[in-house]
Amino acid sequence: MTKKVIHLAMAAVSILIISCNKNSQTTDSAHPSASSENYAGKPITHQYDTQIDSLIRQMTLEEKTGMLHGTSMFSTAGIERLGIPELKMADGPLGVREEVSRDSWAPAGLDTDFATYYPAGAGLSATWNPELAYTFGNSVGEESRARDKDVLLSPAINIIRTPLGGRTYEYFSEDPFLNKKLAVPFIVGLQNNDVAACVKHYAANNQETNRDFVDVQIDERTLREIYLPAFEAAVKEANAYSMMGAYNKFRGSYLCENNYMLNEVLRDEWGFEGVVISDWAAVHTSVNSLKSGLDLEMGTPKPFNEFFLADALIDAVKAGEISEEEIDIHVKRILQLLFTIKSMGGEERTKGSIHTEAHFKDAYDIASESVVLLKNDKNLLPINPAGISSVAVIGANATKKNALGGFGAGVKTKREVTPLEGLKNRLPGSVKITYAEGYQERYAPKKEAIFGDVTQERSTTIDVLNPILLEEAIQAAQNADVAIIFAGSNRDFETEASDRADLALPFGQVELIEKVLAANPNTIVVMIAGAPFDINSIKEKSSALVYSWFNGSEGGNALADVLLGKINPSGKLPWTMPKRLEDSPAHATNSFPGDKVVSYDEGILVGYRWFDTKKIEPIYPFGYGLSYTTFVIKNARADKKVPYLTNDTIYISVDVENTGDMDGKEVVQLYTTKKDSKVERAAQELKGFEKVHVKKGETSTVTIALPVKELAYFDIEKRSWVVEPGNYDLRLGNSSRAINKVVSVAIGTE
Ligand code: BGC
Repeated sequence: MTKKVIHLAMAAVSILIISCNKNSQTTDSAHPSASSENYAGKPITHQYDTQIDSLIRQMTLEEKTGMLHGTSMFSTAGIERLGIPELKMADGPLGVREEVSRDSWAPAGLDTDFATYYPAGAGLSATWNPELAYTFGNSVGEESRARDKDVLLSPAINIIRTPLGGRTYEYFSEDPFLNKKLAVPFIVGLQNNDVAACVKHYAANNQETNRDFVDVQIDERTLREIYLPAFEAAVKEANAYSMMGAYNKFRGSYLCENNYMLNEVLRDEWGFEGVVISDWAAVHTSVNSLKSGLDLEMGTPKPFNEFFLADALIDAVKAGEISEEEIDIHVKRILQLLFTIKSMGGEERTKGSIHTEAHFKDAYDIASESVVLLKNDKNLLPINPAGISSVAVIGANATKKNALGGFGAGVKTKREVTPLEGLKNRLPGSVKITYAEGYQERYAPKKEAIFGDVTQERSTTIDVLNPILLEEAIQAAQNADVAIIFAGSNRDFETEASDRADLALPFGQVELIEKVLAANPNTIVVMIAGAPFDINSIKEKSSALVYSWFNGSEGGNALADVLLGKINPSGKLPWTMPKRLEDSPAHATNSFPGDKVVSYDEGILVGYRWFDTKKIEPIYPFGYGLSYTTFVIKNARADKKVPYLTNDTIYISVDVENTGDMDGKEVVQLYTTKKDSKVERAAQELKGFEKVHVKKGETSTVTIALPVKELAYFDIEKRSWVVEPGNYDLRLGNSSRAINKVVSVAIGTE
């Protein structure tokens, strides 16, 4: 369901696609002017500021502090006599979370809180499609309003620093550019529905291990170039109305009382006018938190008046440690947010809708573009139902549901189509489906893991197969024309609050997959996961390999449509799949997880930046994904031969020819390399991309607009972004390791 975007020509990169048929000449005659891909959000309104000041003058100190802390699990106090409503919040990234009790995490037990389960972050990012990010934001925004929410605690956009991160499935990418290009439309779509995004977790919260106290050390350039760009764009381009302060420390101070990050960077530099909300129980002080830039404290069960911004804050005002005028600043921000989202002020507000067919369709559209085809050597895919009479469906993930599970926010939904159900829905009755569970999701009692002098509990899995189930699976595979194994992980195994110990596939799956592959060479392996796993041997032994995600209400239907060729896969990996954990930067530098302190020693070389600079071969590279058709990217050209200047935009065009026999979508990716830089640079950096639909036999021209400013590095002495003059390579291809065209451009001095 798309409500059309307000297209303001403001965002950093713009793209134009001109479709033409195979024989037509493609020209770059005029410059592509403004793009169809720019998203900008409406700012916080100041229209009611005088009214707000007058309301604040009428409030008691107790009423003011009631607005600055949770008075239920997901809301703050309103002030009835002044017509001020509660501020009502809900998680989160997978859809609007079910209602919990006012004073505990126990489900409220309602039958009015069913919601659409949307694909988790990794699924959205694998689409490489900002329009779908807008669709997602808009759709979940409508659901938020139907549930009468003011703030949705989403999107979650921390950078994936390690493949082991427990929330990798929830986050978008290892790359700051892809991250921001999806975060901005998501936020704009969401906020267009009179609900505030709460962008989380600001910032440098890239591991679950010791997240409550670990002190993250990142050098300034790395912070600016890798960990902050999506947050910065969320503020400057999308005008996000709220931000969630993370649990951990950054350079010695907790992020909910970090003056540098909250006051200096977020507000003074970026101009953030919204509300900083703490993560749940992430606050440690009263006066210092407020003075350092926090506005609102949320938390987990304890009497709400015992929160730091409750009675203790009142005492602090009375003791003269903080003035009432300072309290007013934070109250005013919350009131401005309430007026901006039309919870106050009497303007007509979006009513929304929830758990509708239209929203299931949105979830389907996202899921269907997210599935990544990793290998199809013998063209087992797509399956032609007319050519087979039986399919063996193997693996616990064929029936596993992931809307709920693990630690952290899930969604209560009446619809979650599993992969097995998807195949049953889509295969004709003439094809017999036999299901065999194959492996079981089993856990042993928790074990303690020791990091320096810090100890944490970790789940361990039972990795031996049940011989009866194994035999059943082998039999099923032997007796079928085609076998499909649904393997991978799930949201109990990949979860908030703990990182994985290694990359191993749990529950004995590798053995199962190897034996099924031996039993039937026509076996397709489908991984369902949110993060990289060790699939070395599976890659080697299987000829058809697909990666899918915790993919929402319609995940099973979308997956079946990909396997059966109704949808031509167009997903691309949003992170690097390493061959070995030690190849990944945080592990190669032995700087994960730290104990009380973690220092990001790999600096700017996060993700593929590390692999490409150090020339390490991954299993599958960032940006990789095949299609059932083939594309040729050719005729790369920049619009000018003379040097570009800092305020210019480089328009670079390529022709994308679909040389196969199926219509399909391809993602043209633009990486840049600075030659002879005076500072350390990654071998290449993503600076533009565009997903384009090309009919079989036809050619489309894609023009990517690259503002020269995107080539800047962060100069720590000048404390600003600097574009180095000289030569740059613009590298175009369809993955970070499949660059087939390089165009050199010069940037001149002003
Ligand atoms: C998570 C947040 C979430 C909050 C409320 C915290 O544990 O880190 O992402 O929004 O809980 O459920």
